[in-house]
Amino acid sequence: MKVLIVEDDLATRKGLEESIKDLGGEPYSVGTAKEAGKALNEIDPRLLIVDIHLPDGDGIEILRLAREGDPDREGIVITGQGSIDNAIEALRAGAFDYLLKPLRPAQLEVVFNRLTDRRRLETEVETLRAELQETGRLGDLVGRSEAMSRIFEVIRRVARSNAPVLITGASGSGKEVAARTIHRLSRRAGKPFVAFNCGAISPTLIESELFGHERGSFTGAEKRRVGYFEEAMGGTLFLDEITEMGAELQVKLLRVLEDRTLRRVGGSQELKVDVRLISATNRDPRDAIKEGKLREDLYYRLNVFPLALPTLSERPEDIPLLAEHFRKLIEEQEHAGVAGWEQAAIDLLQSYTWPGNVRELRNVVHRAYVMTEGKLIKPDVVESLIPKADRIAPAPTKKKPAAKVQRAGGAARRR
Ligand SMILES: Nc1ncnc2c1ncn2[C@@H]1O[C@H](COP(=O)(O)OP(=O)(O)OP(=O)(O)O)[C@@H](O)[C@H]1O
Ligand SMILES: [Mg+2]
Repeated sequence: MKVLIVEDDLATRKGLEESIKDLGGEPYSVGTAKEAGKALNEIDPRLLIVDIHLPDGDGIEILRLAREGDPDREGIVITGQGSIDNAIEALRAGAFDYLLKPLRPAQLEVVFNRLTDRRRLETEVETLRAELQETGRLGDLVGRSEAMSRIFEVIRRVARSNAPVLITGASGSGKEVAARTIHRLSRRAGKPFVAFNCGAISPTLIESELFGHERGSFTGAEKRRVGYFEEAMGGTLFLDEITEMGAELQVKLLRVLEDRTLRRVGGSQELKVDVRLISATNRDPRDAIKEGKLREDLYYRLNVFPLALPTLSERPEDIPLLAEHFRKLIEEQEHAGVAGWEQAAIDLLQSYTWPGNVRELRNVVHRAYVMTEGKLIKPDVVESLIPKADRIAPAPTKKKPAAKVQRAGGAARRR
């Protein structure tokens, strides 16, 4: 980021230059209002750091001019003599912050980071929004149906907050992709996204995996281990299959969420927790509570923002878009020159109920791609890949594209 420093005191100026360089910015500095005016045009800075009292003018005025020329420019006003009037005037001119001399590098760092964070986030959100309009895509989530547009809307809103999110949806409906998208759109995007599947690990080990342990805290604990919570510090922790976590551990998790501190297994030190929690389940949480698989108090904590993903058969109009999206991704990897679909092949895809949801569709597209000889994927290839039993009889009239399909016998587990 190009930073214009307008400061007549040489020592302060050099100090600022050094700090900006340390923070990864590109500093340019001048000592007068006149030079500042010239520099604005020549280097087009994104950030201005201006001293109020200059030999030939007023720094706040420069900032005002700079922002008139381009409202996206940010400013930090610094001054030796603090006064409420100055502060108010600086903020009116659009300053991002107002700092008193002598500046401490740490102070500048906080403001600079906040600013770059905000910029990064704004650019990211803008890019994604444009992409969504063009391609029906938010992050890695694809869909133009009304159901998905509503999901996109919630995701954008949720991403701005720090509140816990509980994502529900059948297996393969995109819960993990949705969680990653929320993270990517949030202020935490520069920090880690850590995914942990509670169903993939023995219940006795979950606690130490999540919260970490101290050396010697149990047989086999030869080294200190940092848990997933700590790994996700500052970022997002995605807890998948939350109902597979034992009841006792659910109590512990609840306590961590309430106190925002945690203790490693066998440890005495309390660690502060700054982690956004997103949890997911492919069961109906209400049923899970009734069956004693999910504590009700924890449920309320996790479910601040509920996000219920539709099954693929509830949004069959997205099938062509998704199928084409996956074909392109596969073509990028395999380069076999399979360039598209015969319409009848797409129709067939839309006639299937997709009990495995988007994941199943992706797999079918991949197999169809591999089996295709020419340029276009043909219906007979698709025909051979989807079971007849799970097709929807073609409706005589086109009232509803697909019936809402309930799958028998609980959700299929991944792998
Ligand atoms: N809306 C979507 N757009 C694009 N791809 C998607 C979408 N939803 C799911 N996918 C694809 O389907 C795959 C499965 O999604 P994901 O792993 O998020 O499902 P899940 O809901 O977490 O399933 P499970 O309950 O089995 O863990 C992803 O790898 C991704 O390729
Ligand atoms: Mg998952």
